Amino acid sequence: MGGSDDRYPLNDRRRKERREHERRSGTDRRVDDRGRPEGDRRKGQDRRKGDRRSGRDRRDETAWRPIAIEQIASSAFDDAALLAAAIDVRERARARFSGFKVGAALETETGEIVTGCNVENATYGLTMCAERVALFKALSEGCDVFTRVAVVADTDDPTPPCGSCRQLLWEYCGDIEVILANLSEVKRRMRLAELLPLPFDARLLD
Ligand code: THU
Repeated sequence: MGGSDDRYPLNDRRRKERREHERRSGTDRRVDDRGRPEGDRRKGQDRRKGDRRSGRDRRDETAWRPIAIEQIASSAFDDAALLAAAIDVRERARARFSGFKVGAALETETGEIVTGCNVENATYGLTMCAERVALFKALSEGCDVFTRVAVVADTDDPTPPCGSCRQLLWEYCGDIEVILANLSEVKRRMRLAELLPLPFDARLLD
């Protein structure tokens, strides 16, 4: 994250939107419900709705301070929330044909986490991967700017997004961080551009 990167012009629009959002809101929406539509209010300790107070901070409420997205994106604490969400949602995978359950958790720039699991069906070919389920859920809920995605499978080797998911993640999320983990540890961290080094995208259609 951070400064502009000319290699990824698709991200420029998102950066502009993020700056506009920050200017308009004048606050970090993760710390309270100001500006949230009624149906989007945080409930209790549901951290997937963005309540980031946990562990040490939860023990001492006064320790909580709004912090910059850049800081959050690189903290080990934040990893835990994202990974926990991916591990949880993986349990809902409909994977009776492959037996291969996957969970994905997509982080938005405002700190919300949107999850997805893979959904298979009897035709096999209509299977939808966890990453795209998370992405489509997020887009349809109005999320537009993303920072990271965690993908969890029960494998020793990292399970990376398939080609279709790489394409869709690239087009809608840009060069986000990709965290590949199994049920007990992070196996690999990379940028999406490493997984899709020569992307086809809207720039070529202009
Ligand atoms: N799958 C995902 O959900 N995400 C990935 O990153 C790789 C593969 C799913 C699709 C299918 O349901 C099962 O894993 C086996 O390919």
